[in-house]
Amino acid sequence: MPQSKLFAPTTIPTRAGEGLALRNRAVLPPMCQYSIEQRDGIPTAWQLVHLGAHAQGGFGLVIAEATAVAPEGRISDLDVGLWNEQQAEAWKPVTEFIHSQGAAAGVQLAHAGAKASTYGWLKEYEDAGKTGSLAPEDGGWQTLTSTPSDLHGLAPAAQMSGQQIADSVQDWAEAAKRADQAGFDLIQIHAAHGYLIHQFLSPLVNQRTDQYGGSWENRTRYLREIVQAVAAVWPQEKALGIRFSGDDWVEGGWRIDDTVRLATELYAAGVRAFDLSSAGIGPFRGPSGPGYQVPLAQAVKQALPEDAFVTAVGGITDPVQAEQILVTGQADGVSVGRAALGDPQWPNRAAKKLGAATASPAQYWRGRW
Ligand SMILES: Cc1cc2nc3c(=O)[nH]c(=O)nc-3n(C[C@H](O)[C@H](O)[C@H](O)COP(=O)(O)O)c2cc1C
Repeated sequence: MPQSKLFAPTTIPTRAGEGLALRNRAVLPPMCQYSIEQRDGIPTAWQLVHLGAHAQGGFGLVIAEATAVAPEGRISDLDVGLWNEQQAEAWKPVTEFIHSQGAAAGVQLAHAGAKASTYGWLKEYEDAGKTGSLAPEDGGWQTLTSTPSDLHGLAPAAQMSGQQIADSVQDWAEAAKRADQAGFDLIQIHAAHGYLIHQFLSPLVNQRTDQYGGSWENRTRYLREIVQAVAAVWPQEKALGIRFSGDDWVEGGWRIDDTVRLATELYAAGVRAFDLSSAGIGPFRGPSGPGYQVPLAQAVKQALPEDAFVTAVGGITDPVQAEQILVTGQADGVSVGRAALGDPQWPNRAAKKLGAATASPAQYWRGRW
């Protein structure tokens, strides 16, 4: 049986030290759980069990869901956060358990911008048919963005002032410090899916006339400032990553060439892990099907220095397909989202199929795969 690439251990490089060792190249991508019923952004037993199960399931890297850097950056009032000390403390048992199962722990830091303040999934909302923007009587708040736009079909967002942008960059850095304190090994900056950073990057939204809009340099400034501020406080020995929407899939939008150019700049600024998703501005558009975003990862991988760790995501469900993506050099790792929601043991099952050793904990050895 030839050695599986998916289950060959690897390392995400860091700016100093040995890098972040991963037991394999299967990554659990961030997936919102909208489960914080106290509305205080403090992770609960849900995060421990949900992320812990995927660590038990054999993932090399488990990345916690979009975690707000500021309360107004939550997609819903049920989101988790890292804007205060209590939240940082509450994440500790989660990272400790992930580590105890042999996986590395990542967190996706996020700000939803104009796509904040929406109804998360909660039975009472569903029963009442409540979707879209949170009504003020349900706790909705004024959202912020680069340029107000009706592309999102949500309550109008306010344009951020220069001071609000500067304060927001600081929020990202403070959240990064707390992510370190909480025991995370990797930060993934959420620059994808039409959320705040993407609202600056994409000319479909950003129509500003100040130094944060107009030219490519100006539209990318907010993100470049975030990366600089985060890199200044995030330990050099820990891994720094980003998730892009590699393409808006629309003429005049943010395209893969823009992503490749920016990825190259951010590599120079210390980012080493790149995850390539797509779309999120306006109505859903773009390709779908097995591995539909793999070409985006491949484009970034080809442009970056050899040691960058590039992951593909989207429609990766089958172990042989995942192996193929790695063997053909299209990416260095694969993120498996929905397939793993239905089966947290996806990596252990995949290992069996590919003839690799499973990471199944001893307690589960008698399970049937
Ligand atoms: C329930 C759910 C929640 C998600 N939440 C996030 C999120 O918090 N951050 C993010 O970048 N992507 C999020 N995504 C997108 C996934 O990370 C992933 O990119 C997407 O599902 C495509 O991969 P898949 O085909 O393997 O599921 C979410 C997807 C699902 C299904």
